[in-house]
Amino acid sequence: MVERKSFSSRISGFYKKSMAQRLELIADSGLLSQDSQEHLAAGGALDVTVADRLSENVIACHGLPLALALNFRINGRDIVIPMAVEEPSIVAGCSNAARLVRLSGGFFAEATDPVMTTQVQLDEVPEPERAVETLEACRGELLDAANRAIPNMVRRGGGCRDLEVRILDAEEGVVVVHLYVHVGDAMGANLVDTVAEAVAPVIQRHIGGRIGLRILSNLPLRRTVRATARVSTEAVGGEEMALGLLRASRFASLDIFRAVTHNKGVMNGIDAVAMATGQDWRSIEAGAHAWAALTGRYQPLATWSRTDDGIEGVLEMPMAVGTVGGSTTVHPGVAAAFELMQLSGARELAEIMATAGLASNLAALRALAGEGIQRGHMRLHHRKDRLLAEAQAHANQAEGDRR
Ligand code: MEV
Repeated sequence: MVERKSFSSRISGFYKKSMAQRLELIADSGLLSQDSQEHLAAGGALDVTVADRLSENVIACHGLPLALALNFRINGRDIVIPMAVEEPSIVAGCSNAARLVRLSGGFFAEATDPVMTTQVQLDEVPEPERAVETLEACRGELLDAANRAIPNMVRRGGGCRDLEVRILDAEEGVVVVHLYVHVGDAMGANLVDTVAEAVAPVIQRHIGGRIGLRILSNLPLRRTVRATARVSTEAVGGEEMALGLLRASRFASLDIFRAVTHNKGVMNGIDAVAMATGQDWRSIEAGAHAWAALTGRYQPLATWSRTDDGIEGVLEMPMAVGTVGGSTTVHPGVAAAFELMQLSGARELAEIMATAGLASNLAALRALAGEGIQRGHMRLHHRKDRLLAEAQAHANQAEGDRR
């Protein structure tokens, strides 16, 4: 359990301060270690020698703004959320939405146990129906084989919990075995790939056929998160605005063209935290959209409904994130992000990310149902446009000087 500093995420006028003042304010609250303070004060760039080891053919580092979304209260705890993203309206919108939700007690979120799904494909299985029975009968042996492949995880309390056999094509004998693995605080991709590769020959010995792919599924249905938020009619901006939000939610439920944009707004918040915390955001994106389409009809990840005194939003989706392993252990910016959130582990990170998604959705729908995206949401973008124009003018000037 992390020992947590008591702290208020409601910091008024934060945006008006200089970057150095913001950092000082956060450091004064005792959230950051000395190393993290120094790393952030120096600009937060990743050391190129570390970068060179992280990827292939590296020539430099790519930077993004690292910002803090404020005002969040999640499961009764105040929290600032680090976001690495270039779209200014996301951080401002999330902070604003969190301020409104806070008035009704804040967000509530709950993640399931971190159970990942991995798949073993077998083709040309002679008797697929029998294969299902056979594998069910030797489930203990298969789980043992899986756990022998990941002894450290088993020692830490994780391990293979369950399996499921699915016939994808009875005629051609295409069978897939799902193994469900508790991966602790890891994202778990490597762990479950190891499990799939270890168990595949054992499965084949029992049911025959040709071994195909052995890889995780990016749709981890047993690793999901649910976040909820209530906002009173008054806080959301009045009856018209509340109705507008409900109509917007309904629109997304009825139409894939709207649902995908609605979900993009959700992912704006989630991806920004994923980037700041070194997560595999491609896998989160893949899982989110597959989840949205799970019923065969692409649906919104977050929906809003009426309550006695306002509206309530609910977001549910898969969330495979880790706080150990991968780039989380080598990136000092990620270490700083974890400190800022006073994180207890991967489950809590999933809860925070889902909350950021719901807040981002609320902010987007308020802007859209209210004065429209161009005035409200885009005001901040214009600031960026001015910055880009200035940068271009500088570049032109430098080019002129060189000639
Ligand atoms: C823009 O980045 C995101 C929005 O389009 C989301 C939405 O329409 O709900 C504003």
